[in-house]
Amino acid sequence: MFSLCTTTSAAVRPVQEQLPKPKGASETTPEALFWLLLTGEVPTATQTQSITDELNSRASLPQFVEELIDRCPSTLHPMSQFSLAVNALQHDSQFAKAYHAGINRKDYWDPVYEDSLNLLAKLPLVASRIYRNVFKDGKHGKIDTAADYSQNFASLLGYGENREFADLMRLYLVIHSDHEGGNVSAHTTHLVGSALSDPYLSFAAGLNGLAGPLHGLANQEVLRWILDMQEKIGTDTPTEDQIRDYCWATLNSGRVVPGYGHAVLRKTDPRYMAQREFALKHLPEDKLFKTVSTLYKVVPGVLTEHGKTKNPWPNVDAHSGVLLRHFGLVEQDFYTVLFGVSRAFGVLSQLIWDRALGFSIERPKSLTTEAIRKMFEKQ
Ligand code: MLT
Repeated sequence: MFSLCTTTSAAVRPVQEQLPKPKGASETTPEALFWLLLTGEVPTATQTQSITDELNSRASLPQFVEELIDRCPSTLHPMSQFSLAVNALQHDSQFAKAYHAGINRKDYWDPVYEDSLNLLAKLPLVASRIYRNVFKDGKHGKIDTAADYSQNFASLLGYGENREFADLMRLYLVIHSDHEGGNVSAHTTHLVGSALSDPYLSFAAGLNGLAGPLHGLANQEVLRWILDMQEKIGTDTPTEDQIRDYCWATLNSGRVVPGYGHAVLRKTDPRYMAQREFALKHLPEDKLFKTVSTLYKVVPGVLTEHGKTKNPWPNVDAHSGVLLRHFGLVEQDFYTVLFGVSRAFGVLSQLIWDRALGFSIERPKSLTTEAIRKMFEKQ
């Protein structure tokens, strides 16, 4: 099984370089990545196109799901709306039906694969519907069967005219898909799937984890923190010294500098670098990007001196907001939904493999108080 591991900085680059790109695009696609994650092989352009065609042919929403989303108050967080809609799509789960009909466990992977493709195909429609209801005019576009997944998603959101934005979506959807599977959303999807809950229920559970501020919600926190900093300092071009002082003020008030540190990485997140390279190519003069770059110079030193973080380097969330904002997607509360669409590609491919490999239900071991006492007796 191939897992998208980004713990070495070399890992993102080869993936980006080896996977095919659509005609006229400068980034590879989540469709190509999905093929790689399922087969362990780099797809040809024709194989990649077959995934695009398959997803386009499955891209429609049941009317009741559209109505459910339309009835949500705009004050309900987009992530809660997203999770609600994914749970509702469970209505058409082929795995749930097949399980009820007594499918042989050796064949579980097949309806899980079908559900995964159906779910992936529907996510841009769900996400863009939430976006356009909450932040725009409530009017919704249609899938263009000649376009790839990211171009369609960009168009549904309302940014389809800008080719650079479609490329940003391709990059964004590829790099946020997953890395090493241990994060809250990937592990939750895997864990819930181990109970043979179908892909809709499993992924919705993962989304609820992604919605936490220490996980996917961090990308909206990063931008909020930077914009607050600019406002408090009174300039959109803060100096290194001003940023250093602001970081210390944040840390001294018992808060964290969002977007820095990581549970397992001990160096700059390669996904941060991939986004930085995109910014250097497409928006080198953007003032906010310049601030993000200055933060990259200053924060690791501050965090090292502070001495409380194992990894002072930026993670994936430290960069995504500035890119989206540059193209006009300024609604920070929506950022984690974009993350969720991408994460689906990583966690659903893992779920298909989980069932193909016949993994059993997961259950952590529990300990009695007496056992814990004994464990620490000698210390
Ligand atoms: C992620 O991609 O989910 C984040 O980097 C968090 C993690 O891996 O723990």
